[in-house]
Parts: sequence; structure tokens; C-alpha cells
Amino acid sequence: MEYPHKPVLVEEIVKYLVAIPDGTYVDGTVGMGGHSLAIGMALTGKGRLVCLDLDPDAVRLSRQRLAVLGKRVFVIKAGFSELDRVLGDLGVKQVEGVLLDLGMSSYQLEMSGRGFSFRREEPLDMRMDPEKMQTAHHLVNNLPVRELEAILKDYGEERRAKSISRAIVKARTTKPVETSLQLAELIKSIFPPSFRSRARHPATRTFQALRIAVNKELQNLETFLNRIPTMLVKGGRLVVLSYHSLEDRLVKQAMVHWERRCTCPPDFPDCVCGKVPLFRRLFKRGLRASQGEVEENPRARSAILRAAERI
Ligand SMILES: C[S@@+](CC[C@H](N)C(=O)[O-])C[C@H]1O[C@@H](n2cnc3c(N)ncnc32)[C@H](O)[C@@H]1O
Repeated sequence: MEYPHKPVLVEEIVKYLVAIPDGTYVDGTVGMGGHSLAIGMALTGKGRLVCLDLDPDAVRLSRQRLAVLGKRVFVIKAGFSELDRVLGDLGVKQVEGVLLDLGMSSYQLEMSGRGFSFRREEPLDMRMDPEKMQTAHHLVNNLPVRELEAILKDYGEERRAKSISRAIVKARTTKPVETSLQLAELIKSIFPPSFRSRARHPATRTFQALRIAVNKELQNLETFLNRIPTMLVKGGRLVVLSYHSLEDRLVKQAMVHWERRCTCPPDFPDCVCGKVPLFRRLFKRGLRASQGEVEENPRARSAILRAAERI
């Protein structure tokens, strides 16, 4: 079977993640299992792999794909922000490495039918976990204009946040915005004609912002980053692949903070903060995919890889 998601920077991820091939590893965003398959192949017979995803379709499809790895793999429907609870349930105290490949998969964009794409006529849903209550439809049709504007600004860095949110609120007074294509057309209609021929669709940033808000993506990432230091053994690795500056900034800031020694002001005679470094970064600048990979897999264009080792 063809799995509709090409994993990004696979070789680099396995190289930086798997330092202890007998260890227990976590793929916190298993998706279609492309990275997990490569990680599983790099482990010895003693190594184990725990895979999580919020999306039940991802859990089902990756389970099928990863069956070749046998009983060393556990695929669980859970969010990576709950990793400590999941490991506790499995009786695992600490692990040798964790991978996060953030954002959505090509499957979700193209085949889930949940309105992630502004090119498809689908219900405005955008939930990765369909058991959660809040849909994009709910946000678009109920939030006060200022809250909508804040979402588009904060999570989409959309310069026209004000006019887009006003246009949405005006449109919904006549009838609710039901589908992804209706929303995309509405946004397109308020951009000047010169914008309409540009490579980037005018609805790109709004869709990103709504998806981030619906799935609380940045809150989940922050919770995970706060908890991960105690979950990794010494020498264990954290590898994160981000696709936009908001999530990459959180990852970078966390890694820089962990790496720092004492943070007392320079004029303090003695350290009072007691801060010791928790991680060392494996490389300082975020790693990008090669031109060749981007040509083969356009999703790789915006990917930024960061990796750090617990010390
Ligand atoms: C870019 S895809 C991962 C693709 C995967 N690496 C592969 O090779 O197929 C991101 C996946 O993360 C999942 N996801 C997003 N937020 C999550 C969270 N907080 N916890 C667990 N999974 C999450 C999405 O449902 C999606 O399947």
C-alpha cells in the first residue's frame, strides 16, 4: 500500500535520534509511520518504539504499516503532551529518545475530509482528534470579531487579520460558513486581484491559524517542552521537526534555555539561581532539507530540524 505522506529528513532524524539502539524510543507524531519505520529498522532486537498520534486514522494506518516491526512497537492514540502519563501506563520510567514531527500530515490535508485544505469542499472541522469538542466551524461561526482577529494575527501572522475577521463576521450574519472552500473563497474575495495570481493562496495563513487554534498546537508543544527533561535518560535525544516560525521559536528557546548555565545577573558575586545545563544542542542552527529533497517533497521546504542531548 502507498502511504500518503513522505517523511522529511529521514536519514538525518535517525542519525541524530538513535544514539543507543537497544533503547526505548518515542515517535510522538507517528502520522503514516514513515519516520517510525526508519527508526524501528535502526533499533536492535532489544529496542522498543512507542508511537503516539491524536488522529485515529493515523493510529490505524501506522499500526498496519509498522506491523513488520513486530511486538517491539506500541501504537497508542494519545497526544505528546500526555507522554509522561502514557509512559507511566506502560511502566516505562525514561526513554532514550523522542521525535516530534509537528503539524499535519499529507493524509490529513488531502484525504481526511476534515477541511484542512482550502482547495477542497469539505466540512470546516480541522480537528486532528475528532473526539475533541471544538471545530473550526465553531470558531469561525461563533467567536467575537476581536478573538478571531487575535487568532489570525497570533497563529497565522496574517497582516489582514482585521479585514478577514470582519468579512467572516459579516458573512455569517446571513448564513454560517459551512465548508473549507466557502471560507477560502470569502477570504480570496477581500484580497485585491493582484494577490489572487500569487503562488501562495490568500487563505494560507488563516487556515494555518485556525488549525493551530482548534488543535491547541502551541499549548501542547509548550506542555511537552516543560515536561520532557525528566523523561529522557542521560545521553537521550530530543529531535523536533517544525514547519513554521511559531513552533520553531518555542523549540529553539527551550533548547537554548536548557543549555544555559547560571542565569544570575553578571554583577551578582555568587550564583543564587543554581541553574545547571540540562541539554546540549547537537547543532546550533536549525537544519534544512537539501534542494534535492525539496524538489521531491515540497513539504520539506519549510521544515527546520533541531536536536539536543540530555546531559
Ligand atoms: C507531520 S505529521 C507526522 C508524519 C510522520 N512523521 C510520518 O512519517 O508519517 C504530524 C502528525 O502529528 C499528529 N499530531 C499533531 N499534534 C499532535 C499531538 N499533540 N500529539 C500527538 N500527535 C499529534 C498529527 O495528527 C499528524 O498525524
